[in-house]
Amino acid sequence: MDQLAIVVRRATERDQQAIRALVRSERLNPNGLNWPNFLVALTGGSIIGAVQMRKHTDGSRELGSLVVAKEARGRGIASRLIDTLLAEDREPVWLITAEPNVGAYSRWGFEQIETRAAPAKVRRNHLMGSLVRIISFVMRRPMRRLVILERRPAGEWTRRTSASCHGREHARGKRVAA
Ligand SMILES: CC(C)(COP(=O)(O)OP(=O)(O)OC[C@H]1O[C@@H](n2cnc3c(N)ncnc32)[C@H](O)[C@@H]1OP(=O)(O)O)[C@@H](O)C(=O)NCCC(=O)NCCS
Repeated sequence: MDQLAIVVRRATERDQQAIRALVRSERLNPNGLNWPNFLVALTGGSIIGAVQMRKHTDGSRELGSLVVAKEARGRGIASRLIDTLLAEDREPVWLITAEPNVGAYSRWGFEQIETRAAPAKVRRNHLMGSLVRIISFVMRRPMRRLVILERRPAGEWTRRTSASCHGREHARGKRVAA
């Protein structure tokens, strides 16, 4: 595999099954795995990595389903997927991750925010993920707290109301110490 080139491209309909299998092989949100939102990484024609930009009905977007096949990890594939996904992106993006991973996303400008400062649909996914973690804990699996990160276009640091959050004053700019 080391000799094979890694290609990152937009997913096609034919990738749907492989995306679902890869994401569901990890304890990630199994819902909303729609190929049009995904980028995939391939080597030798096989999908070894995926990431998506979830588009919520409240207008918010969430980077999610980041996964790389076990045998392909530690080679920068996840970083390439995120680089490609965010290359031309100028709109706010949120993501949910376990607390120890917060620092891994700072290179793309993500910062931890208070849960209540996130859009409703992102908060809902955070709540669902946290409940799954609590169930895992009860089943004696290690539990790490989930947190919400936000990436905003440069220069947008003033507190303002988000147009993407219908009917709710959304206080932005509320950072918490990571
Ligand atoms: C997390 C994951 C996608 C990283 O894939 P990868 O191709 O090995 O990542 P890269 O080689 O691009 O390295 C990313 C960097 O972030 C670090 N990192 C650790 N955990 C991470 C995480 N959960 N998310 C992102 N980055 C993470 C890596 O150690 C690495 O740091 P370095 O550049 O200082 O060495 C992969 O381990 C995976 O699929 N894990 C299971 C699913 C998962 O936890 N997804 C993330 C949900 S938020």
